[in-house]
Amino acid sequence: MQYDRHTEAYFDQLTPEYSPNRLAFAIEFISRQSSQNLSLIDLGCGTGNILEHLQKSTKIQQFCGVDLSEKYLELVRQKLDCRTVKGSVLDPALPDLVAETFDVALLAAVLHHLVGRTRRQSRQLAAAALQNALRVLKPGGYLIVLEPVFYPNLMMDVVFYLKKLVTSVTSRRIGLFGYWNNIGAPVVSYFTNERLRQMIEQTGGCEIVEFELRERKLTRLMRAAFITRNTDTTVVIRKK
Ligand SMILES: C[S@@+](CC[C@H](N)C(=O)[O-])C[C@H]1O[C@@H](n2cnc3c(N)ncnc32)[C@H](O)[C@@H]1O
Repeated sequence: MQYDRHTEAYFDQLTPEYSPNRLAFAIEFISRQSSQNLSLIDLGCGTGNILEHLQKSTKIQQFCGVDLSEKYLELVRQKLDCRTVKGSVLDPALPDLVAETFDVALLAAVLHHLVGRTRRQSRQLAAAALQNALRVLKPGGYLIVLEPVFYPNLMMDVVFYLKKLVTSVTSRRIGLFGYWNNIGAPVVSYFTNERLRQMIEQTGGCEIVEFELRERKLTRLMRAAFITRNTDTTVVIRKK
Protein backbone atom coordinates (compact mmCIF):
# COMPACT_ATOMS: atom_id res chain seq x y z
CA MET A 1 0.00 0.00 0.00
CA GLN A 2 1.42 3.39 -1.02
CA TYR A 3 1.88 6.08 1.64
CA ASP A 4 1.14 9.60 0.34
CA ARG A 5 4.51 11.00 -0.84
CA HIS A 6 3.44 14.63 -0.38
CA THR A 7 3.11 14.31 3.42
CA GLU A 8 6.82 13.81 4.11
CA ALA A 9 7.77 16.73 1.84
CA TYR A 10 5.11 18.93 3.44
CA PHE A 11 6.38 18.40 6.98
CA ASP A 12 10.00 18.71 5.95
CA GLN A 13 9.36 22.13 4.39
CA LEU A 14 7.03 23.56 6.99
CA THR A 15 7.68 23.52 10.71
CA PRO A 16 4.27 23.64 12.32
CA GLU A 17 4.06 23.38 16.11
CA TYR A 18 0.80 22.53 17.87
CA SER A 19 -0.15 23.50 21.39
CA PRO A 20 1.07 21.14 24.15
CA ASN A 21 -2.15 21.98 26.06
CA ARG A 22 -3.65 19.01 24.22
CA LEU A 23 -1.44 16.86 26.44
CA ALA A 24 -3.23 17.76 29.70
CA PHE A 25 -5.06 14.45 30.05
CA ALA A 26 -2.02 12.41 28.95
CA ILE A 27 0.13 14.18 31.55
CA GLU A 28 -2.48 13.59 34.23
CA PHE A 29 -2.57 9.88 33.28
CA ILE A 30 1.24 9.61 33.35
CA SER A 31 1.39 11.31 36.75
CA ARG A 32 -0.96 8.60 38.13
CA GLN A 33 1.66 5.90 37.38
CA SER A 34 3.62 4.80 40.40
CA SER A 35 6.85 3.84 38.61
CA GLN A 36 9.68 6.35 39.06
CA ASN A 37 11.85 5.54 36.04
CA LEU A 38 9.45 5.79 33.15
CA SER A 39 10.65 5.91 29.56
CA LEU A 40 8.69 7.41 26.64
CA ILE A 41 8.95 7.25 22.87
CA ASP A 42 7.21 9.97 20.84
CA LEU A 43 6.31 8.58 17.41
CA GLY A 44 5.99 11.44 14.90
CA CYS A 45 7.57 13.81 17.41
CA GLY A 46 7.81 16.82 15.08
CA THR A 47 10.10 19.57 16.38
CA GLY A 48 10.15 18.24 19.95
CA ASN A 49 7.94 20.87 21.63
CA ILE A 50 5.77 18.08 23.04
CA LEU A 51 8.79 16.14 24.29
CA GLU A 52 10.15 19.30 25.91
CA HIS A 53 6.77 19.92 27.56
CA LEU A 54 6.65 16.33 28.85
CA GLN A 55 10.15 16.63 30.24
CA LYS A 56 9.09 19.70 32.23
CA SER A 57 5.72 18.38 33.41
CA THR A 58 6.23 14.68 34.15
CA LYS A 59 8.65 12.46 36.04
CA ILE A 60 9.65 10.62 32.86
CA GLN A 61 13.40 10.03 32.89
CA GLN A 62 14.19 8.80 29.41
CA PHE A 63 12.91 10.08 26.05
CA CYS A 64 13.20 9.01 22.45
CA GLY A 65 11.79 10.86 19.42
CA VAL A 66 10.97 9.30 16.05
CA ASP A 67 10.09 11.23 12.92
CA LEU A 68 10.41 11.05 9.15
CA SER A 69 12.12 14.42 9.04
CA GLU A 70 15.81 14.69 9.96
CA LYS A 71 15.36 18.47 10.12
CA TYR A 72 12.82 18.02 12.93
CA LEU A 73 15.03 15.55 14.78
CA GLU A 74 17.85 18.12 14.77
CA LEU A 75 15.43 20.60 16.41
CA VAL A 76 14.47 17.95 18.98
CA ARG A 77 18.12 17.43 19.95
CA GLN A 78 18.55 21.19 20.34
CA LYS A 79 15.64 21.27 22.80
CA LEU A 80 16.43 18.34 25.06
CA ASP A 81 18.81 15.50 25.78
CA CYS A 82 16.97 12.86 23.83
CA ARG A 83 17.76 9.95 21.58
CA THR A 84 16.29 10.43 18.10
CA VAL A 85 15.54 7.88 15.40
CA LYS A 86 14.73 8.77 11.79
CA GLY A 87 12.03 6.35 10.75
CA SER A 88 8.41 5.75 9.86
CA VAL A 89 5.75 4.52 12.21
CA LEU A 90 4.58 2.45 9.25
CA ASP A 91 7.87 0.64 8.78
CA PRO A 92 7.61 -2.96 10.03
CA ALA A 93 11.35 -2.71 10.80
CA LEU A 94 10.83 0.25 13.16
CA PRO A 95 11.12 -1.86 16.36
CA ASP A 96 14.52 -3.12 15.11
CA LEU A 97 15.64 0.43 14.35
CA VAL A 98 14.55 1.62 17.78
CA ALA A 99 16.02 -1.54 19.35
CA GLU A 100 14.51 -1.00 22.82
CA THR A 101 11.06 -0.96 24.39
CA PHE A 102 9.37 1.79 26.40
CA ASP A 103 6.84 2.24 29.22
CA VAL A 104 4.88 4.81 27.23
CA ALA A 105 4.54 5.47 23.49
CA LEU A 106 2.91 8.65 22.22
CA LEU A 107 1.23 8.94 18.83
CA ALA A 108 0.02 12.53 18.72
CA ALA A 109 -1.69 14.02 15.67
CA VAL A 110 -0.07 11.45 13.39
CA LEU A 111 -2.80 8.93 12.47
CA HIS A 112 -4.78 11.38 10.30
CA HIS A 113 -1.62 12.13 8.30
CA LEU A 114 -1.17 8.51 7.24
CA VAL A 115 -2.95 8.74 3.95
CA GLY A 116 -3.23 6.16 1.20
CA ARG A 117 -5.03 6.39 -2.14
CA THR A 118 -8.47 6.07 -0.56
CA ARG A 119 -10.06 6.65 2.85
CA ARG A 120 -10.18 2.90 3.33
CA GLN A 121 -6.46 2.51 2.60
CA SER A 122 -5.77 5.39 4.99
CA ARG A 123 -7.63 3.55 7.76
CA GLN A 124 -5.54 0.47 7.01
CA LEU A 125 -2.36 2.57 7.34
CA ALA A 126 -3.56 3.98 10.66
CA ALA A 127 -4.30 0.43 11.88
CA ALA A 128 -0.80 -0.66 10.81
CA ALA A 129 0.71 2.29 12.72
CA LEU A 130 -1.21 1.37 15.88
CA GLN A 131 0.08 -2.19 15.65
CA ASN A 132 3.65 -1.02 15.08
CA ALA A 133 3.45 1.47 17.95
CA LEU A 134 2.50 -1.35 20.32
CA ARG A 135 5.62 -3.22 19.24
CA VAL A 136 7.95 -0.60 20.75
CA LEU A 137 6.22 -0.91 24.15
CA LYS A 138 7.06 -3.13 27.09
CA PRO A 139 4.30 -5.60 28.08
CA GLY A 140 1.89 -3.65 30.28
CA GLY A 141 3.10 -0.38 28.73
CA TYR A 142 0.76 2.35 27.52
CA LEU A 143 0.21 3.72 24.03
CA ILE A 144 -1.31 7.20 24.19
CA VAL A 145 -3.05 8.32 21.01
CA LEU A 146 -4.07 11.95 20.52
CA GLU A 147 -6.22 12.85 17.55
CA PRO A 148 -8.26 15.84 16.45
CA VAL A 149 -11.66 14.36 15.60
CA PHE A 150 -14.34 15.85 13.33
CA TYR A 151 -17.95 15.05 12.43
CA PRO A 152 -19.71 14.11 10.23
CA ASN A 153 -17.68 11.39 8.59
CA LEU A 154 -19.14 12.28 5.20
CA MET A 155 -17.60 15.77 5.35
CA MET A 156 -14.24 14.22 6.21
CA ASP A 157 -14.56 12.08 3.06
CA VAL A 158 -15.16 15.31 1.13
CA VAL A 159 -12.14 17.03 2.75
CA PHE A 160 -9.93 14.02 1.99
CA TYR A 161 -10.85 13.74 -1.70
CA LEU A 162 -10.86 17.51 -2.23
CA LYS A 163 -7.35 17.76 -0.79
CA LYS A 164 -6.29 14.76 -2.90
CA LEU A 165 -7.50 16.55 -5.99
CA VAL A 166 -5.82 19.85 -5.14
CA THR A 167 -2.49 18.25 -4.18
CA SER A 168 -2.41 16.35 -7.47
CA VAL A 169 -2.09 19.81 -9.08
CA THR A 170 0.00 21.71 -6.50
CA SER A 171 1.90 20.83 -3.33
CA ARG A 172 1.27 24.33 -1.90
CA ARG A 173 -1.13 25.15 0.91
CA ILE A 174 -4.26 26.76 -0.51
CA GLY A 175 -5.52 28.99 2.28
CA LEU A 176 -9.20 29.64 2.64
CA PHE A 177 -10.15 32.49 5.01
CA GLY A 178 -6.81 32.31 6.82
CA TYR A 179 -3.57 30.37 6.60
CA TRP A 180 -4.45 27.34 8.72
CA ASN A 181 -7.74 26.65 6.96
CA ASN A 182 -6.65 25.20 3.70
CA ILE A 183 -7.83 22.90 0.99
CA GLY A 184 -4.31 22.04 -0.25
CA ALA A 185 -1.44 20.04 1.27
CA PRO A 186 -1.33 18.04 3.44
CA VAL A 187 -4.07 15.53 2.73
CA VAL A 188 -5.71 14.46 5.98
CA SER A 189 -7.91 11.50 6.83
CA TYR A 190 -9.74 12.35 10.05
CA PHE A 191 -11.70 9.78 12.05
CA THR A 192 -14.76 9.95 14.21
CA ASN A 193 -14.41 8.80 17.82
CA GLU A 194 -16.45 5.69 17.03
CA ARG A 195 -14.13 4.79 14.15
CA LEU A 196 -11.04 5.44 16.24
CA ARG A 197 -12.37 3.20 19.02
CA GLN A 198 -13.30 0.47 16.55
CA MET A 199 -9.86 0.58 14.91
CA ILE A 200 -8.11 0.27 18.27
CA GLU A 201 -10.43 -2.52 19.44
CA GLN A 202 -9.61 -4.44 16.26
CA THR A 203 -5.89 -4.18 17.06
CA GLY A 204 -4.97 -7.37 18.87
CA GLY A 205 -3.01 -7.62 22.11
CA CYS A 206 -4.23 -4.42 23.76
CA GLU A 207 -7.14 -2.86 25.61
CA ILE A 208 -8.48 0.68 25.88
CA VAL A 209 -8.16 1.95 29.46
CA GLU A 210 -9.13 5.62 28.95
CA PHE A 211 -11.07 7.39 26.20
CA GLU A 212 -11.18 11.08 26.94
CA LEU A 213 -12.90 13.71 24.77
CA ARG A 214 -12.44 17.45 25.00
CA GLU A 215 -15.13 19.24 23.01
CA ARG A 216 -13.84 22.14 20.93
CA LYS A 217 -15.79 25.18 19.92
CA LEU A 218 -16.73 25.20 16.26
CA THR A 219 -15.54 28.20 14.27
CA ARG A 220 -17.84 29.96 11.86
CA LEU A 221 -15.85 28.50 8.97
CA MET A 222 -16.30 24.97 10.32
CA ARG A 223 -20.05 25.48 10.57
CA ALA A 224 -20.09 26.84 7.02
CA ALA A 225 -18.27 23.65 5.96
CA PHE A 226 -21.05 21.57 7.62
CA ILE A 227 -18.77 20.38 10.43
CA THR A 228 -20.97 19.58 13.40
CA ARG A 229 -18.50 18.50 16.08
CA ASN A 230 -14.78 18.70 16.85
CA THR A 231 -13.07 17.00 19.77
CA ASP A 232 -9.49 16.67 20.96
CA THR A 233 -9.44 12.98 21.75
CA THR A 234 -6.97 11.12 23.94
CA VAL A 235 -7.03 7.33 24.06
CA VAL A 236 -4.86 5.38 26.49
CA ILE A 237 -4.26 1.81 25.36
CA ARG A 238 -2.61 -0.85 27.50
CA LYS A 239 -0.44 -3.44 25.81
CA LYS A 240 -1.27 -6.88 27.19
C1 LIG B 1 0.84 17.17 12.91
S1 LIG B 1 2.51 16.82 13.28
C2 LIG B 1 2.38 16.37 15.00
C3 LIG B 1 3.66 16.60 15.75
C4 LIG B 1 3.57 16.25 17.24
N1 LIG B 1 3.38 14.82 17.43
C5 LIG B 1 2.45 17.01 17.91
O1 LIG B 1 1.46 16.39 18.33
O2 LIG B 1 2.55 18.23 18.02
C6 LIG B 1 2.71 15.21 12.50
C7 LIG B 1 4.12 14.68 12.62
O3 LIG B 1 4.13 13.32 12.20
C8 LIG B 1 5.26 13.09 11.38
N2 LIG B 1 4.92 11.95 10.52
C9 LIG B 1 4.06 11.91 9.48
N3 LIG B 1 4.02 10.68 8.96
C10 LIG B 1 4.88 9.93 9.71
C11 LIG B 1 5.30 8.57 9.65
N4 LIG B 1 4.83 7.72 8.73
N5 LIG B 1 6.19 8.13 10.57
C12 LIG B 1 6.70 8.98 11.51
N6 LIG B 1 6.36 10.28 11.60
C13 LIG B 1 5.46 10.75 10.71
C14 LIG B 1 5.46 14.40 10.63
O4 LIG B 1 6.78 14.53 10.11
C15 LIG B 1 5.15 15.41 11.74
O5 LIG B 1 6.28 15.70 12.51
